[in-house]
Amino acid sequence: MLASRTFTRGAQAAARSTQVWFHVLYWQFDALLNTVWHSQTFRGYAAAAPTAAFAGQKGSNGKYTVTLIPGDGIGPEISQSVKDIYTAAQVPIEWEEVSVAPVLKGGKTVIPDAAISSVKKNTVALKGPLATPIGKGHVSLNLTLRRTFNLFANVRPCVSIKGFKTPYDDVNTVLIRENTEGEYSGIEHEIVDGVVQSIKLITWDASERVARYAFHYAQSSGRSRVTAVHKANIMKMSDGMFLSACRQVAKEFPSISYDEDLLDRVCLQITQNPRPYADRVMVMPNLYGDILSDMCAGLIGGLGLTPSGNIGRDASIFEAVHGSAPDIAGKGLANPTALLLSSLMMLRHMNLDDYAAKIEKAALSTIAEGKTITGDLGGKASTQEYTATIIEKLAKA
Ligand SMILES: NC(=O)c1ccc[n+]([C@@H]2O[C@H](COP(=O)([O-])OP(=O)(O)OC[C@H]3O[C@@H](n4cnc5c(N)ncnc54)[C@H](O)[C@@H]3O)[C@@H](O)[C@H]2O)c1
Repeated sequence: MLASRTFTRGAQAAARSTQVWFHVLYWQFDALLNTVWHSQTFRGYAAAAPTAAFAGQKGSNGKYTVTLIPGDGIGPEISQSVKDIYTAAQVPIEWEEVSVAPVLKGGKTVIPDAAISSVKKNTVALKGPLATPIGKGHVSLNLTLRRTFNLFANVRPCVSIKGFKTPYDDVNTVLIRENTEGEYSGIEHEIVDGVVQSIKLITWDASERVARYAFHYAQSSGRSRVTAVHKANIMKMSDGMFLSACRQVAKEFPSISYDEDLLDRVCLQITQNPRPYADRVMVMPNLYGDILSDMCAGLIGGLGLTPSGNIGRDASIFEAVHGSAPDIAGKGLANPTALLLSSLMMLRHMNLDDYAAKIEKAALSTIAEGKTITGDLGGKASTQEYTATIIEKLAKA
């Protein structure tokens, strides 16, 4: 009896193990197919210029049309602040406001067609934060946007704001994060009850493309070095290939130094002394960039001050690094600076540098004075009061 029960358990375990391995092999084959698909899809980009320069045309009203996605939570409040500041600064932009609230199409959650065609047409967009349900519900719309428009590089600069006191006064980092794959490929499945698999997908072409953009960015922004941040000591194949792609691209840029560093070492070193990182651009796979950029944001005073740009070949979307802040939404407490600074990255992308410089000066001097700043920066001002102070400074400029 005991022997037969042991045998049955053994047989069950063997069957379960065979089933697990069957699923593992099946999914790995599927992932491989996906990899091939990705490589084929992105092959064109690898050889192409890192990103298309902005080619938008002014309309008959003398203005460029830019897509505006106000987003969720505090998104509409901080978008309104940017709109008011742009009106005051007479920026030659007309906003085309679209919603990306997900719709069901063929059983899948997708972004509405109107939003997609607006970004395609205008090739440039400013986006407020989008809420993503955790552990359930629709896929992240941020991920969907990045995939839909092949926004392959996420650029995140973190620069200390003069007059706003933080433990370091001289943070000046630029981090470029691969934005389409890696740990965020969205390939996850339950193999059997209690066993799940999440696949980190790295392709040569996407790695080469983001590396080339990082070198290009370093060259055009006067930074002398590119550092690839990795964990190839553990993920020898995936991060190893990312590094190989970076090394190959480095040969095309002899005037830019290239080196590599481990993610954990970089975290330790930046928090001890961020100064040495001011000479370089850091480039890395998706998840590392997500985490390291928030850490850099912490060094300059938090998420309310950190802009970003999602750069693609056919369109680019600029957005604050922070989320929809549901805890303060609708209360007039949100700091619009991160979205405003993201919009200034957008203006520079559109070659509207003079407008960007004027607005930047008004915003940063408002923060430096410290009289009308929002709660996250230690002040008492509302979003509207902070916005009004920037507008007053613009009027006097
Ligand atoms: N790019 C994006 O669209 C994006 C990025 C991150 C998170 N999210 C989503 O946002 C939602 C909330 O995420 P979370 O709470 O983890 O992060 P969060 O960034 O929204 O908030 C973290 C903390 O920072 C504060 N904060 C954030 N932005 C602020 C601002 N501009 N002014 C003042 N305070 C600010 C919030 O009040 C909160 O206390 C989630 O659904 C998440 O998926 C979206």
